[in-house]
Amino acid sequence: MSEFLTFNKSKAYIEESSQHLAGGVNSTFRTGMQPNALSFTSGEGAYLTDLDGNKLIDYYLGMGPMILGYNPTSIKQAIQKGIEEGIFFGAQNKHELIAAQMINKLVPSSELVRFCTSGSEAVQASLRLARAATKKNLIIKFEGHYHGWFDNVLWSNKPSLQHAGRRDNPNLVAWTEGQDVHSGDSIVVLPWNDIDLLKKRLSKNDIAAVIMEPAMCNSGGISPKANYLKKTKEACKLHNALLIFDETITGFRFAPGGAQEYYGILPDITILAKAIANGFPVAAITGNKKLMSLLTQGKVVHGGTYNSQFLSMIATVKTLENYSKYNFHYELNNKTIFLKDGIEKVLFDEKITSILSSFPGFMFCGFGTNKQPIEYRDLLNLNNEMYSSFCLEMIKRGVRTLERGAWFISIEHSQDILEETIEIAKHAIVALKTK
Ligand SMILES: Cc1ncc(COP(=O)(O)O)c(C=O)c1O
Repeated sequence: MSEFLTFNKSKAYIEESSQHLAGGVNSTFRTGMQPNALSFTSGEGAYLTDLDGNKLIDYYLGMGPMILGYNPTSIKQAIQKGIEEGIFFGAQNKHELIAAQMINKLVPSSELVRFCTSGSEAVQASLRLARAATKKNLIIKFEGHYHGWFDNVLWSNKPSLQHAGRRDNPNLVAWTEGQDVHSGDSIVVLPWNDIDLLKKRLSKNDIAAVIMEPAMCNSGGISPKANYLKKTKEACKLHNALLIFDETITGFRFAPGGAQEYYGILPDITILAKAIANGFPVAAITGNKKLMSLLTQGKVVHGGTYNSQFLSMIATVKTLENYSKYNFHYELNNKTIFLKDGIEKVLFDEKITSILSSFPGFMFCGFGTNKQPIEYRDLLNLNNEMYSSFCLEMIKRGVRTLERGAWFISIEHSQDILEETIEIAKHAIVALKTK
């Protein structure tokens, strides 16, 4: 019998479900995983159990939301109680008010909140709001930053160097077939972390908003340069453009108030999602009263049948309660640093050229270069194939890691689990080297 885990039942499941579900999955981003996409039967704490009965230490965290771990008791109990009162009213409920009050207290730039059900939707609302507020149309986005899967923002997410064009005037590179080519007409793409290029483009005074991940977590794990966010904010103000922080990943993770608290720079509009409700489909757009009042006056349309869904709002309140615990983020950060240092030591000892970075609850690891990246194009030197083989060696040994190098860490990743992960990483690297 093999000493390694096998995933044959998941494989068979995906094959069967492919007869009924397109590709056997419900998101493009769930395909192409090694050894194959998995189907899960349960989750508890930092673990997921798959159809084959494998209990895996999980660093996907459902692509980020499960910061409290899988199936936390407090949420489970609140939902069990709440479901006695109802499922969905398609109207206002007491929990949405409490959730909004909590967000306004936690997130420094937030005065008014609107809920929706996904980060992608919240991004769309933010762009509409920015255009309405500035009476301008163009949006600046950055190479390598992801803002959801809709046509108008699915530009230059991961262009090859061949297609990316000149660094100081990048091409807009579409990600998918079928993308409306005209949706790029309102988008300007720039390299991130270059204040001079940004200022130069803003000086034409035709930009409605600059949208960014305040730390680039969808491609690598790249910090903003010192003062980059501050100078960006100043330049936006000077040229009457709004600054949108897409805190879908960083929100509530980097700090109770997200990256804006972590870096001390407040945007005009904030997108919140993922860690807002620990797995329930909730996102939010927030800003100051003046700006958000465009929504209240009905001047800017924002809809969504399932917005502030009753049970999701209960989960939001129960999730947000954790972020005002004084040591939550301290602990989350310590766990992340412990894991990063441990993996870094393994890679150093085994002489694997690599880069690592970490923020509270998020870590990035890439192979093939030791030059710390500053922008998306620097990541094109990474050896993604080798990293993907590493992930395969990890999952065979019981640790599930994302092949794009991101690691999401929850409050349930205990010291023992982190130590076990580091030990397994050592074995995985040795196996990789002997291949
Ligand atoms: C920064 C960022 N913005 C937007 C989105 C889209 O969010 P959703 O998948 O909830 O639509 C994501 C998803 O990963 C994201 O990371």
